[in-house]
Amino acid sequence: MSEPQIFPVPQDWARRAYADENAYRKMYEASIDNPEGFWREHGQRIDWIKPYTKVKNVSYDKGDLHIRWFEDGTLNASANCIDRHLAHRADKVAIIWEGDEPTDDKKITYRELHEEVCKFANVLKAQGIKKGDRVTIYMPMIPEAAYAMLACARIGAVHSVVFGGFSPDSLAGRIEDCASNCVITADEGVRGGRKIPLKANTDKALEKCPDVKSVIVVKRTGGDVAMKDGRDVWYEEAKAKVGADCPPEEMNAEDPLFILYTSGSTGKPKGVMHTTGGYMVYTSMTHHYVFDYHDDDVYWCTADVGWVTGHSYILYGPLANGATTLMFEGVPTYPSPSRSWEVCDKHGVNIFYTAPTALRALMREGEGPVKKTSRKSLRLLGSVGEPINPEAWLWYYNVVGEGRCPIVDTWWQTETGGILISPLPGATALKPGSATLPFFGIKPVLVDNEGKELEGATQGNLCIADSWPGQMRTVYGDHQRFIDTYFSQFPGKYFTGDGCRRDEDGYYWITGRVDDVLNVSGHRMGTAEVESALVAHAKVAEAAVVGYPHDIKGQGIYAYVTLNVGEEPSEELRKELVQWVRSEIGPIASPDLIQWAPGLPKTRSGKIMRRILRKIAENDFSNLGDTSTLADPGVVNDLIDNRQNKS
Ligand code: WT7
Repeated sequence: MSEPQIFPVPQDWARRAYADENAYRKMYEASIDNPEGFWREHGQRIDWIKPYTKVKNVSYDKGDLHIRWFEDGTLNASANCIDRHLAHRADKVAIIWEGDEPTDDKKITYRELHEEVCKFANVLKAQGIKKGDRVTIYMPMIPEAAYAMLACARIGAVHSVVFGGFSPDSLAGRIEDCASNCVITADEGVRGGRKIPLKANTDKALEKCPDVKSVIVVKRTGGDVAMKDGRDVWYEEAKAKVGADCPPEEMNAEDPLFILYTSGSTGKPKGVMHTTGGYMVYTSMTHHYVFDYHDDDVYWCTADVGWVTGHSYILYGPLANGATTLMFEGVPTYPSPSRSWEVCDKHGVNIFYTAPTALRALMREGEGPVKKTSRKSLRLLGSVGEPINPEAWLWYYNVVGEGRCPIVDTWWQTETGGILISPLPGATALKPGSATLPFFGIKPVLVDNEGKELEGATQGNLCIADSWPGQMRTVYGDHQRFIDTYFSQFPGKYFTGDGCRRDEDGYYWITGRVDDVLNVSGHRMGTAEVESALVAHAKVAEAAVVGYPHDIKGQGIYAYVTLNVGEEPSEELRKELVQWVRSEIGPIASPDLIQWAPGLPKTRSGKIMRRILRKIAENDFSNLGDTSTLADPGVVNDLIDNRQNKS
């Protein structure tokens, strides 16, 4: 492997940033040598109602697994995001909302945010929602989505945001799993000029969820939707009936703040549960240092609030820091591929945080759409969600940032709550494609498949040796699944599911998932979920799904499908199956390639040999390994002959 180019820290960054290289090293060492002392100090960066005296109470022991931070402190997350800024920043813009159409935007100050969130909280109370209730939020990217989340936090209800691109079935599964009694949605969403029937989807989902007693509907498009008497209320009407006074509920540090469903290698999506105190400390601290957020910066994270990036780095982290955070309803290619940069110019964005898949899609359009914008305000660029290939990194750096802006490639997960491995812009020399070094308090370890810790420059399974405040606490309703998924394969450590290389400088290079989880355009998808959607189709007998390299999406979805006896493969059926998966899970799960497989390669005990299927999908069958243990070695030749990815 050739030595990658190194981009040293620009001097003005080293001078101005919260941490230069020296400060990073000192703080990192302190955080590892004495985690208790380190977090006792930094836990104070947020406002507590009752200060904590205890800092860390964690056991990764399978028999008694628990993770508690600041456990005797009390606080309220929404008060940390809003009320505490009212004394000095009431008229500062908290949220810049940029609509799908470039003519549509809005600025919300901290004072206005306070009033909106209090009113939304009072609407929830009027609907009978109490502390501890689970509220499902199925919303487009409009300010009311942020108000709804913060309103839940204000009254101590636990929000579960479901991405607006998920199907009615996926929504129903998530409502049922956490026994939500309330859904907040909108009539329709708008993205890239197209409408998304959120209320109609909700109605369909609720046919399966009779326990939902209240649906609050925000008007976004004014489209025609059905309202069910006694269950559905228009937000605007309910809001007109409540006051703007709503004191924040005093929550324990370990009270749940939210549940967010994410895909694993097996089974249904898991309800990742985050609690209040540690999450607020960790997201605000990472936002502060990784983005080097200063008080007058305009910060834009392009994620959707339906994903953890939206929770931690559009909402909770930035607002806890009193930031101006931009929320964008649309897509980067509408009305033109210049949109992202036009938005940067229009609002004077200084910090821009996006996903490699978006960059690759824009890269394809050439430099023209970028170059016709100024981008003078940009100071720092960020990347998240999947490994960024060096070509995309260099394009981001040279074309978008004109060589002026450091790039922070931030590695983390829904489970981690916040960023674990990332450069700090004033401290870390950059190597394109590397997430570089751990954040304060994070101790990455690489282990081999037997769990042996590997030293020095090496490659292995990425684990984290000890807890950090933003870590998930459990799988909602299934603590055993939490233990089994993350703490069993390598006892005593948190296993991330990612493979990783560490180079001679101690830099980390994430190589992607080592389990059956796909990363399609930065969205996580379990192969098992797509398989179970496929086999739910009446004509399908069996299905196996794997990922393959995809130029834009990072990974594409490749499905091997065995039809029932008597069913004939056809182009029409292929389209029908793609459509089927879209409607079962959502558009993000659409198979890119479907191969008709008369048989799947199985061991004599009936286990599907995914390794072989992956190789064929990657169009690399030079080295299929030992196929002699297969029950019917002949199927492999058929699969190779009829492979769909002949690139
Ligand atoms: C998985 C987590 C992090 C919030 C959004 C995704 C991959 C994430 C990076 C990165 C390489 C990355 C990992 C991880 N991933 N960021 N900077 N470099 N890989 O959260 O849906 O929970 O997915 O995304 O494979 O395990 P998520």
